[in-house]
Amino acid sequence: MPQATSLPGTTDRRIAALLTLLAENATIVISGARIAREIGVSRSTVWRWVQRLRELGVRVKGQHRTGYFLEEVPDILTPDLLRKRMKGSLFGKHIYHFFKTDSTNRVAMELGYAGEPEGAVVLAEEQTAGRGRAGRSWHSERGAGIYVTLLLRPRLSPVQVPLLTMLAGLSARAAIEAQTGLHAELKWPNDLLMNGAKVGGILTEMHAEPSLVRFVALGLGINVNQQKFPADIAGLATSLCKESGKVHSRLELLVRLLAQFGADYNRFLREGPAYVIERFQLESDFAQGKRVMVESGKGTYFGKTDGLSPEGFLRVQKDDGQEITVIAGDVSEVR
Ligand code: BTN
Repeated sequence: MPQATSLPGTTDRRIAALLTLLAENATIVISGARIAREIGVSRSTVWRWVQRLRELGVRVKGQHRTGYFLEEVPDILTPDLLRKRMKGSLFGKHIYHFFKTDSTNRVAMELGYAGEPEGAVVLAEEQTAGRGRAGRSWHSERGAGIYVTLLLRPRLSPVQVPLLTMLAGLSARAAIEAQTGLHAELKWPNDLLMNGAKVGGILTEMHAEPSLVRFVALGLGINVNQQKFPADIAGLATSLCKESGKVHSRLELLVRLLAQFGADYNRFLREGPAYVIERFQLESDFAQGKRVMVESGKGTYFGKTDGLSPEGFLRVQKDDGQEITVIAGDVSEVR
């Protein structure tokens, strides 16, 4: 089984330890010699790593001779901090952290093929090729959002896997509300919206046999502290910061999200699909009575949402009265 440090690109455990040491002693000057001793590297390595942290936007003050201190505690999702907070939970055991990677889903799929057990968490401060649904990309600015993928090995049939996407949407919505007081709308199957703009999304990928799931990479992206977005998505995307006018702690939100999803996941496995479908119908402002446009392989049509099927697909009553079930496609609200 791969270890965190042997996976190319993961944050070296010792850099993470340096960050934790600085964060736990924020604003206090710690000598290079003490850091070197505690982490088990040379003083010149400490110096090199401090440069690296600075390049990554961490505000480390001081220098080689005088010692170092953090000007402010950075909101970095260091595995050490997260592990402490998630102790005893499914998601507190194997945490893979990257300052930069292409896609946490891609990494999690690779871990899945390599036999990594259920519960691994793959996190990135920045993604260079974040994946979205339907072959789109996911804008992943450094340190501004949560970009996380969970590796799951549920005993489900492949047709039930989309329910995990919906479940994760429910968990994310609950975590956002508990942490920030903001209300996100859930749009079937995987969108979290605020004032009509996208604040989060979920991309579930899997490796499966015809009747058996081998593993699932459940990727969540939440726009937390972005102040602005690139021009092509500026009108479509928003962040918790933009909506509330406040900066939010990504670590606190992530801890809530993982705890909430852990509880929801157990309940789904215990109670079955009805738990997800009933809850989604209750909590999604979108599942019932919304006027929508559906774009699918079969063309574009208009109608009104009419709840979910027992499998979790969206029912739409078309304008001509015909009732259809949307299995895949883009559904957008028409006002
Ligand atoms: C969507 O709404 O289109 C889904 C977006 C999913 C984005 C997340 S960010 C973390 C994980 N890694 C990826 O490459 N994508 C997902």
